[in-house]
Amino acid sequence: MCGIVGYVGCRNATPVLLNGLRKLEYRGYDSAGIAVLSKSSDEIVVKKSKGALKFLVEKITKEVVRTSESMSDADADRRFSELVGKTGDFIDGCVGIGHTRWATHGEPSDLNAHPHTNVSGSIAVVHNGIVENYGKLKSWLQSNGIVFKSQTDTEVIAHLLNYFYERTNNIFNAVLETLHRLEGSYAIGVICRDFPDRLIAARKESPLVVGVGNGENFIASDVPAVLEHTREVHFLEQNEIAVLYSDHVDLFNSEGEKIVRGTTHIDWNMDAAEKGGYAHFMLKEIHEQPSALENTIRAHMLFGDDGKPSGLTFSKEIEPERFRELVSGARRIVITACGTAYHAGVVGKYAFEKFARVPTVVDVASEFRYRNPILGEGDVFIVISQSGETADTLAALRLAKSKGAKVIAITNSVGSSVSRESDFVIYTLAGPEIAVASTKAYTTQLACLYMLSMMFGRERGIIGDGEYARLLGEFAAVPEKVQQILDEKAAVQKFASSQFNKSKIFYIGRQFDSASSLESALKLKEVSYMHCEAFAAGELKHGPIALVDPDTLVIAIATEPPLFEKLASNIEEVKSRRAVTMCITQDDSGAFEKCCDEIIKIPATESAFESILSVVPAQLFAYYCSVLRGNDPDKPRNLAKSVTVE
Ligand code: F6R
Repeated sequence: MCGIVGYVGCRNATPVLLNGLRKLEYRGYDSAGIAVLSKSSDEIVVKKSKGALKFLVEKITKEVVRTSESMSDADADRRFSELVGKTGDFIDGCVGIGHTRWATHGEPSDLNAHPHTNVSGSIAVVHNGIVENYGKLKSWLQSNGIVFKSQTDTEVIAHLLNYFYERTNNIFNAVLETLHRLEGSYAIGVICRDFPDRLIAARKESPLVVGVGNGENFIASDVPAVLEHTREVHFLEQNEIAVLYSDHVDLFNSEGEKIVRGTTHIDWNMDAAEKGGYAHFMLKEIHEQPSALENTIRAHMLFGDDGKPSGLTFSKEIEPERFRELVSGARRIVITACGTAYHAGVVGKYAFEKFARVPTVVDVASEFRYRNPILGEGDVFIVISQSGETADTLAALRLAKSKGAKVIAITNSVGSSVSRESDFVIYTLAGPEIAVASTKAYTTQLACLYMLSMMFGRERGIIGDGEYARLLGEFAAVPEKVQQILDEKAAVQKFASSQFNKSKIFYIGRQFDSASSLESALKLKEVSYMHCEAFAAGELKHGPIALVDPDTLVIAIATEPPLFEKLASNIEEVKSRRAVTMCITQDDSGAFEKCCDEIIKIPATESAFESILSVVPAQLFAYYCSVLRGNDPDKPRNLAKSVTVE
């Protein structure tokens, strides 16, 4: 949803900005641009380009990244870094802002790319979010004689800043006045030729991080863009403004009053935000799942003297007394999220109903927020969000709170809006997820939901001692079972190489597996662009089977032993219509041998937990199909991570 960066210090800003943007390309990649206060000319130099960041670098250096068609991706990456290093020779200056765009208003083009400037070019702004009242503001500015260069909503900010600057001669006041007139969401970075020692940033709804360095300071939409320089950050709160100088940062509220707050220390290291030898972030993140799960599980699991799991605790997140209150008062659990996180919620519904016997409903946040939902005091409301900034999820959270529900957030982002606004926060310890398609965030969300549902079940007396010990033992072993699947990934790769040209793919399953089918199908759509749908297997004959023909691949997820026979019959039905069939299962009994052309075996565990395992081959299948089809799995078309607009 657009990435913004900014720098003020004594280094050359241009390469710093471009390297920062490189870390944010997952947020948008249809155009990019920078604005730097040039030391030699005392003017703001703006460079922008449609397309990926490399085109901007090529425009600045007038050299190409890929010098020959046969150049390997790794060599192209190296050359890209080399050229970024040279960009400082073309634009000097130690203060600047940059942007990588995911278009909302106006097509991707050089003109619509950010930064945008006032007419004289003395003020430049980058923006992430949507100015909802931009139409009104634009008409008013036009009636004052302003001629717009772009179709973006952002350009109104540049002209408004100019309008107020002309009246106050103070860029900070101009920012304050401008912000008071904006409706919608924004994270902005502003530089002004007449104040060459500072950079001003502000946020409402859209995220913004201020990186506090030594003799230099930074802004960015997300932590990975500043990690290389500092681990001390301020997560700007709603409506806050930051003024960054090279030697300090001042924070203000929306009325311009100073705020004093310490920085937050970020524990991730740089490696976590780098590809580390993998061809893509997506593949790296799929492989990080055993350790991400281990970290997430260990943060909540207690172990006895014999080293065996002896219990679960959420006491760091919810004090034991309040947890008991929450459990005993829970009339219903309502789970809300978007996309992959919603799919985790669907698995969560099955888990809560199985382990805790609490009625559970799950809804997509974009629907929930407009439904005037029936919610009350006995409802435990769970929001799930990797980024913690998804606009619809946040709106759903606020609505649930306003109706008196207690909100538990499951998120991967410390300091995010979701984490700040919820009553209780459970963190997935997945580390930074850079690839747009979510993988390790999803499986760690599942881990949190399973643990929470087992805790609920235990407290409500549904799960007895022996069963609890057995479940915990099984659950603790899940990460190493994920590793076993990864060790056998060649089988998935081989299967993908025979199927990546199929015109239709269906995932089917029953119960937990129908939930896993939703996520498996989404993964494939997102990165391979193959047409893929998920169906509850029993629904096939009620309509979707009409689509099945010899060019169809049907992948069955089969981890519910009591339903194996039923599922095998569903597979037979599509097989007899000459579909290719594949099955992801832990079954050893041969239940699927006759009806399936291919079987991908996953390790056996408690069947409810198989959802963490069965999605891994599906993630790998999506990844390999994407690569085989010549796509970039890290940056799927039309998508961006962290959807901070509606
Ligand atoms: C898909 C994907 C998205 C997100 C969705 C919610 O791979 O990543 O569907 O799950 O946009 O994002 P968060 O979890 O950040 O709220």
